[in-house]
Amino acid sequence: MTGGGEIGLYLAGRISAEVALARLLLAGASPDAIAETLASDETPRGRALLHVVRTRRESLQDLRAMFADVTHETLTAPSGAAVERIGRMFDRALQASPEASVAAYSLGDPAILADATDEIVAWLGAARLIGPVSDVLDLGCGIGRVAAALAGRVRSVRGLDVSRAMIDEARRRCMAANVTFAACSGTDLALVPSGAFDLVLAVDSFPYLMQAGSAVAERHVADAARILRPGGALVILNLSYGGDPAADIAHAVRWASAYDLAARVLGDVPFKLWDGRAFVLQQPDP
Ligand SMILES: C[S@@+](CC[C@H](N)C(=O)[O-])C[C@H]1O[C@@H](n2cnc3c(N)ncnc32)[C@H](O)[C@@H]1O
Repeated sequence: MTGGGEIGLYLAGRISAEVALARLLLAGASPDAIAETLASDETPRGRALLHVVRTRRESLQDLRAMFADVTHETLTAPSGAAVERIGRMFDRALQASPEASVAAYSLGDPAILADATDEIVAWLGAARLIGPVSDVLDLGCGIGRVAAALAGRVRSVRGLDVSRAMIDEARRRCMAANVTFAACSGTDLALVPSGAFDLVLAVDSFPYLMQAGSAVAERHVADAARILRPGGALVILNLSYGGDPAADIAHAVRWASAYDLAARVLGDVPFKLWDGRAFVLQQPDP
């Protein structure tokens, strides 16, 4: 098994057990192979990870099968076709495991996903990116877990997603009066009115915009700049899955300059459970 790297990062305390397992399963490692690698490790972190693998063995096997259908490769099809293909991939993933379909590191466990969601919402609050009069656009909202968690903290949330199955599931799960969901084209935000939002939030959805082509991602940044009110922010949690943090920062810096946004956060890793990298591009506040 080629999981020594992820296990090493976990043992060194650089990533959580959940992220290490998700990365290993996405790379095709079986739970038994992971357990075998850990069997001779006597450290407390090693024993703890082995315990998780043994107690969740069957669900991890199911996740490994589900992740075999997931691709993070850049697609060469025209952007519209690529976006549709990605939407269908998420339609299928949702049927296999709603929680894992939006966050592989949840390992399909609603309690882990809830902890990760709380971390995101707490960070948004501490960074003053949300408040009681904020109107939030949740771009690539998935099953609506972030929108639902924000409902009591902001004025309104509009969740958009290219996957219709995700939108149906989000509507089923979240009935807060100030939260609405709609399917979107996935190629741009042309139908969203200008100056209507204080926060455009993209939690782990930009990597799929990039997968459809960096022009698709850039089109969404341009639209976000138009949609945001003065002082409003585009928050991107994970910009790509390219594995090159410097390249992601270069993209964000270029976009900020092209659309007159201030690059306030560039690639920080603010969460304990999730390894998501944060980018905050802000509209000037006159
Ligand atoms: C990893 S999930 C994250 C979902 C949600 N933000 C969360 O964190 O729970 C990525 C989501 O982005 C959506 N997505 C992918 N490409 C998209 C696009 N071009 N436009 C809108 N949504 C997209 C997928 O359908 C999926 O629901």
